[in-house]
Amino acid sequence: MTKLAVLCSGRGTDLQSIIDAIQRGELNAEISIVLTDKPNVMALERAEKAGIKNLCVDRKKFASRADFESELLKNLEGVDLVVLAGFMRILSPDFVRRYEGRLMNIHPSLLPAFPGAHAHRDALNYGVKVSGCTVHFVDEGTDSGPIILQAAVEVHEGDTEETLSARILEQEHIIYPKAIKLFVEGRLKIVGRQVIIN
Ligand code: GAR
Repeated sequence: MTKLAVLCSGRGTDLQSIIDAIQRGELNAEISIVLTDKPNVMALERAEKAGIKNLCVDRKKFASRADFESELLKNLEGVDLVVLAGFMRILSPDFVRRYEGRLMNIHPSLLPAFPGAHAHRDALNYGVKVSGCTVHFVDEGTDSGPIILQAAVEVHEGDTEETLSARILEQEHIIYPKAIKLFVEGRLKIVGRQVIIN
């Protein structure tokens, strides 16, 4: 059974979509651990409720990113795929290299448009008519790794960050479990910047 670790920073609805896909029998994987970088977040409650081991590795309690990451790494032993689900920290090149091809992220825009922490706001300010979400392998840049799946979402007149993000989230909850399923089934091959789906 493929073992996943899911890393979150907050609400955890993307995490929930993965838990639900597993519970429905659509995704043949097991979440070994849910890790957060912040205490008392909903993601921890969701994991607890689903009977999944969960732990906060509080970034504030570590003097450096290296110390923080070494604590994360201790909790990732035996994990096949690390899934970033609303994890709002940049991981070091060392960490990323260690999990090359086994580290996924979801981002709420159609990359390479609007990388970074304010994708919805940036998309609205730019005035695009279509945005969406992207699941990608993580490389050493910010939201720049090889793209696995994307879904497009229309931007409506009068959209706010809240309304747009809610519409995009619906698609995130569909494509993230799908992308993980492709990984679990061994159907993803990274060739340069391309992800070939067999
Ligand atoms: C999601 O929209 C995800 O795409 C985004 O954070 C949200 C997490 O929601 N991730 C990023 O912006 C990463 N740069 P959730 O906590 O309800 O899953």
